[in-house]
Amino acid sequence: MHHTKERNMKDNTQIIVYGGTGFYGQKVVEKLVAKGQSVKVVTRNYENAKKIVGDEVEIFQGDVTEKGTIEKSLKNVSAIVICLSAMSNKLIRKMKAIERDAVLEIMEQAKKTNISRLVYMSGYEMRKQLLDDLKIPEFGEIKIEVEEKIRQSDFNWTILGDAPAFEMFFAFTSKGRMTVPGGGLNAFPTISPEDVGEITAQIVMRDDLNGKRIKLTGPKAFTFPEVAKLMTDIGGKKIKHITIPLFLINIVSFLLLPFTPFVRYLYKSLKMLNNFPVDLAENVPKDHKLLRELFDYEPVTLEMEINSRVKENNL
Ligand SMILES: NC(=O)c1ccc[n+]([C@@H]2O[C@H](COP(=O)([O-])OP(=O)(O)OC[C@H]3O[C@@H](n4cnc5c(N)ncnc54)[C@H](OP(=O)(O)O)[C@@H]3O)[C@@H](O)[C@H]2O)c1
Repeated sequence: MHHTKERNMKDNTQIIVYGGTGFYGQKVVEKLVAKGQSVKVVTRNYENAKKIVGDEVEIFQGDVTEKGTIEKSLKNVSAIVICLSAMSNKLIRKMKAIERDAVLEIMEQAKKTNISRLVYMSGYEMRKQLLDDLKIPEFGEIKIEVEEKIRQSDFNWTILGDAPAFEMFFAFTSKGRMTVPGGGLNAFPTISPEDVGEITAQIVMRDDLNGKRIKLTGPKAFTFPEVAKLMTDIGGKKIKHITIPLFLINIVSFLLLPFTPFVRYLYKSLKMLNNFPVDLAENVPKDHKLLRELFDYEPVTLEMEINSRVKENNL
């Protein structure tokens, strides 16, 4: 372990993962380590990070919104993966500082240090018009702006359009009921965090994907009722799909706004899912096929994920 670190420090071949302790980021780190890569993770909490990423990874403790963290963390680095997120109760108020300002700072410092490879995790597809129509422009504007800046840069860049994780379906399911605000009647893409990690690791290690935006999705787009049926068929126990009005969440989120803006964002993402564009959903199998052509991996399907939860008695 020690040797690996030393060798890579000299060779400048370390891959840094911002957000490497996160839901998707930790999978990226795990897969990079499995491929024998030297990895550095930036985190606000060393002890917590150690529990998540283990001993094989260099841990740089620092807050990306604080001056100096980014410059120092980029020493001996050859490639950058950004999977920072402020989508939680605690961080939502700092969203601009974390998801925008810090990312632009990473780009600036990386340029100074002559690091060329940059991989950025974004949403599946950020359509400004759709967000405007749904009256939730701020839901995507940071990602749209950052993507634009990356496109205009001369990094060897790849942007990832990540679908939400399969967890989305399980999060609304408990004790035989799937209770979905707005119903979730539009099909949308999902993926296993496992595959996000594997594909992202392969992407950052490759040099031939410059200037590409790649969508990360499982094989098929599903509606919530379809998944309830799938769960019923696989588990042999009825999972009942229940629609509750989206406006209930809207009202609650307004009332909670002074205390936490997070529920408001949750409402907005649900609004987005309930209005997921049909043409995007129809293209999911094609987008997935492209992944199978470009990358060497065996996808985890939703059926497999449901199966393992049924075995653990977890539905
Ligand atoms: N999860 C999904 O279903 C989903 C779907 C589509 C797209 N995405 C995209 O994938 C990316 C990652 O999302 P995620 O859900 O995996 O995120 P997450 O689980 O919320 O993790 C957030 C990460 O950001 C780090 N972070 C936050 N503030 C920081 C700060 N001030 N300084 C340093 N590190 C900070 C956290 O590190 P520490 O806590 O260790 O400091 C953590 O590793 C995002 O771009 C997101 O939009 C996710």
